[in-house]
Amino acid sequence: MIARYELRCSECGALAQRHDLPCAICGELLEFALQNDARDPALARAYIAMVSQRRASNDPLDRSGIWRWRELLPSIPVDAVVTLAEGNLPLYDVSAIAKREGIAALAFLHLGMNPTGSFKDLGMTVAISAAHAAGARRAICASTGNTASSMAAYAARAGMEAYAMVPRGKISGAKLAQMRDYGVRVVEVEGSFDDALAALTARADGEAAVVNSINPYRLEGQKCTAFALLEARSWRVPDWVVVPGGNLGNSSAIGKGFREALALGMIERLPRIAVVQAEGAAPFVRLYTSHTDLIPIVPHTVASAIAVGAPKSWRKARAEIDASHGAVVAVSDDEIDAAKARIGAAGIGCEPASAATLAGITRLRAAGSIATSDDVVAVLTGHVLKDSDASLRVADHRDAGA
Ligand code: F0G
Repeated sequence: MIARYELRCSECGALAQRHDLPCAICGELLEFALQNDARDPALARAYIAMVSQRRASNDPLDRSGIWRWRELLPSIPVDAVVTLAEGNLPLYDVSAIAKREGIAALAFLHLGMNPTGSFKDLGMTVAISAAHAAGARRAICASTGNTASSMAAYAARAGMEAYAMVPRGKISGAKLAQMRDYGVRVVEVEGSFDDALAALTARADGEAAVVNSINPYRLEGQKCTAFALLEARSWRVPDWVVVPGGNLGNSSAIGKGFREALALGMIERLPRIAVVQAEGAAPFVRLYTSHTDLIPIVPHTVASAIAVGAPKSWRKARAEIDASHGAVVAVSDDEIDAAKARIGAAGIGCEPASAATLAGITRLRAAGSIATSDDVVAVLTGHVLKDSDASLRVADHRDAGA
């Protein structure tokens, strides 16, 4: 398959240089925009068959669920690629939960089953590989814990130094321990994730690669979530794909993946994308439902991973919800905890931010947005071991009520 991409501004459309971060003209986020204009389903079928054969190969690029799709990624010299065999993603059918929710089918695509335990690895392999190819010696990010853990691992593999700006006291102990295990230098910032990102922007000196999801290479890796999901379902498109939203890079990336799959002839229609936020960190739900621009807030939620008050990718995410006729919804911390208990009791487990998806499904079903006949996939973004305090709190509560 021949796919051609141009790095452009996602807002003004200006062409960008490979290592620009915001658009030099208008300051908005960049994207790798697909240039193919003709759908070719026969070519797409042949390509899918070739990618599927790569699963049996022992080439490290083929063992990665991201680099298997390399024709659809920015081109990076093979010897600069840093991979940890990410992207081999289980899809768990949960028919008992589907029945209780009153929907036809439900499955969890578990992105927590990645090398560092979160979906960040899917994008980090591309962002760090691109930085490595460009000769960067340092990587830096702001993080609620998962981005930093992932960056730390991939940077270490590439022989790069890594610096993480994190909100003091607002990230789980397990994540802090994990990122330090990989040797990252941690800079604690007072306030929230948004303050850490602002501190990073003020500090970034052009020498270090910024690997937050404002980096368009990250989203190219994460868009492969859509391909992996479709592949695991033998290319049957679900009715809904439900994703938790924080900085909104992941929902933007997954939406882009489905749109490209449609544009290239791999599928015949788009699934609807639903973004779920925690009530205390729901600036996107507010802007989407009130048709305004972003109004930043100070975030508060038990789902520390998605405690983001000024999401950078809100314009991109809004475009994906519009393109897919999707939905946005906010859920309370109690609903997140209850959903986490149910996902744990199904033998799957996840961190609180991921459990927001199931809480969101319950809400969207009650509102009639999700219909009884719908086939739904919820994207679990982080592993259960990422936040053991949350697991203890939820289990204590469940056992006390039993
Ligand atoms: N789920 C988990 C487990 C996360 O760690 C994050 C984001 C999200 C969902 C939301 O994804 O930001 O692309 O909308 N974590 C970031 C971090 C903020 O620093 O690890 P998003």
